[in-house]
Amino acid sequence: VTGFDVPDGLVYLDGNSLGALPEGVAERLQDVVRREWGQGLIRSWNDARWMELSRRVAGRIAPLIGVQPGDVHLGDSTSVSLFKTTVAAARLRPDRRVLVVEPSTFPTDGYITAGVAELMGLELRWCDPADPLAAVDDDVALLSLTHVDFRTGAMFDMAVITAEAQARGALMQWDLCHSTGAVPVDLTGVGADLAVGCTYKYLNGGPGAPAFLWVAPEHQAAARQPITGWMGHATPFAMTRDYHPAGGIGAFASGTPPVLALSALEAALEAFDGVSLTELRKRSLELTDLFISLVDERLPGVFEIATPRQHDRRGSQISLGHPAAYGVVQALIARDVIGDFREPDIARFGFAPLYNTLDDVRTAVERLELVMANEEYADPAYSSRNAVT
Ligand SMILES: Cc1ncc(COP(=O)(O)O)c(C=O)c1O
Repeated sequence: VTGFDVPDGLVYLDGNSLGALPEGVAERLQDVVRREWGQGLIRSWNDARWMELSRRVAGRIAPLIGVQPGDVHLGDSTSVSLFKTTVAAARLRPDRRVLVVEPSTFPTDGYITAGVAELMGLELRWCDPADPLAAVDDDVALLSLTHVDFRTGAMFDMAVITAEAQARGALMQWDLCHSTGAVPVDLTGVGADLAVGCTYKYLNGGPGAPAFLWVAPEHQAAARQPITGWMGHATPFAMTRDYHPAGGIGAFASGTPPVLALSALEAALEAFDGVSLTELRKRSLELTDLFISLVDERLPGVFEIATPRQHDRRGSQISLGHPAAYGVVQALIARDVIGDFREPDIARFGFAPLYNTLDDVRTAVERLELVMANEEYADPAYSSRNAVT
């Protein structure tokens, strides 16, 4: 592995949950803490340009999702970002009273949509993930989907779904947590309305790194988000009584930006300098194709491959279904291959095309064969689960 600090001998296949540590991040954080904070103190808001950090980071993320930097905001968690964009979307369609989300999505997406529906007196409608458009009629304000499913790795056709949802008068929101940095995304090209995504998975921003949100430029003048804090004010330091939103995406800010986290993320994103997204996707498909074919060949019939095999139907992870999936993952971790487990019976393996290699894939499958052959997954030590699986 070059460009990343991954412990020697470790095969890390969990970059779809927490990305590895890019080289240079620790040094950058050390400098921000010791020099900018420790020495510069309050002066660093100006001298170290902390106020511009979110915009600078947005400039690095924008090309990864096919948008203009000035239309992206960072600073909150994905959940809070979703709350803001979902309320804004509902307010953009005041004549429609239904919010649609899929039941298999990452739970927070469902919880936030349900919360917004309750808050605004709207109806929450669950769609069939196999045909989300079937739920979109002329009452629907927003269709909110996750581009790549966290459990199965299945990927929606963003262009087709966006166009059809909009043809029915709904707005289209995409959660890009499991695609940004591994799958090319072109929000402008598909004409999406809103998007959110986290930065601690394939963008390697570190645990709890701030999420991004994007609102299409044509909606920004009318969009109103609900957390109207001072940092989204047109003139925060004028300290006026009444709220006047900043123009453009700036109105989606609420409070003081997380400077340390944004600084780590800014340094981490340098790993994408000069990287072509097309090449990255090619690499990702090589890794996942090899994993699937080795599992097919060496462990026939042992796992159900829960991820679609077709390239354009999947992201950058492969999910293996097995009744003892939790034990399988734990036994693999004991053999220095890190994946993770998701309820009810999925062993997930994320392939980060920036740093995973074909050798990682071969080693992982060799060790998986040993875990299965020796029934290491049945070790009683794995009968109770850790808090984070
Ligand atoms: C699709 C999706 N949305 C949201 C989140 C998490 O949101 P938050 O950043 O608020 O923890 C995840 C985390 O794994 C996710 O996979």
